[in-house]
Amino acid sequence: MAYRLQLGIKTGASMNIVAFNSSPRENKTSKTELVLQKFLAGARQAGAATETIYLRQYRIKHCLGCFSCWLGNKGQCVQQDDMTGELLGHLMEADLAVLATPLYHFNMNARMKSFIERTLPLMNPITAHSGRRLSPPWAAKAPKIAAVSVCAFPEDYNFQALSMNLRMLYGTDLVAEIYRHSSEFLTALPLQLRVEEVLDAVARAGYEVVRQGQVSPETMNAISQNLAPLETLIDMANRFWGKEMEEEEVTGAVGVDGEGVDKYV
Ligand SMILES: Cc1cc2nc3c(=O)[nH]c(=O)nc-3n(C[C@H](O)[C@H](O)[C@H](O)COP(=O)(O)O)c2cc1C
Repeated sequence: MAYRLQLGIKTGASMNIVAFNSSPRENKTSKTELVLQKFLAGARQAGAATETIYLRQYRIKHCLGCFSCWLGNKGQCVQQDDMTGELLGHLMEADLAVLATPLYHFNMNARMKSFIERTLPLMNPITAHSGRRLSPPWAAKAPKIAAVSVCAFPEDYNFQALSMNLRMLYGTDLVAEIYRHSSEFLTALPLQLRVEEVLDAVARAGYEVVRQGQVSPETMNAISQNLAPLETLIDMANRFWGKEMEEEEVTGAVGVDGEGVDKYV
């Protein structure tokens, strides 16, 4: 999927990266977590310090839309919860904030959306018009932003709305977009050779962002490569869901196992 060539990011060993993961799924099943941790491992290899914050463990109320943070309350939200108490602080400490979300209905999930809406106190109400982007800039020193997302359907076009949304939000502060489709196949054993290539490329992306401030086109192509022909993936997914529905079993640990896929790949 698309990537941004950006300069102006602080690069190198002293970079402090804070990742915010909005998946509700526990770490051993979440594909957002799988991809995010590969990215962070690459970043650490390049010398960065990394921390992961799981938004599901925090209380984040919805924005009230009162604009108190821009008026009398001077950059403070009127609500008392973990967003005001802790998360905004973590965000502002970062040189690079990684926003990691599963794709839900072609966009970030609601938890990530709530998190982002509650960053309004950090934004400047005085609008600056720069090029085609008309939006409030961050008031204080802002972190650069990298996006990580995964989606179950095959092919990159699924991320178009998310990508557009983030570009409009962050403009040139958005330095990398790491999107991985066919996410539930990342644990399918028969596809593991391809999966390894993909995950190695994700780690390389983390390395490149720290060292060069951008991800190379070669790395992006490796991340979004197909794990198998489209018809194969659709057939595998349909057989998986058909079997689950017959068994009427809720496992809470969805991941297409790829049983019988050998005949295709
Ligand atoms: C409510 C909901 C909406 C989803 N919408 C999409 C979608 O629009 N496109 C897609 O490809 N996958 C969609 N998915 C699948 C998830 O993106 C996929 O399962 C992903 O691996 C979830 O990330 P996680 O494992 O980190 O939780 C959706 C899943 C849920 C639960």
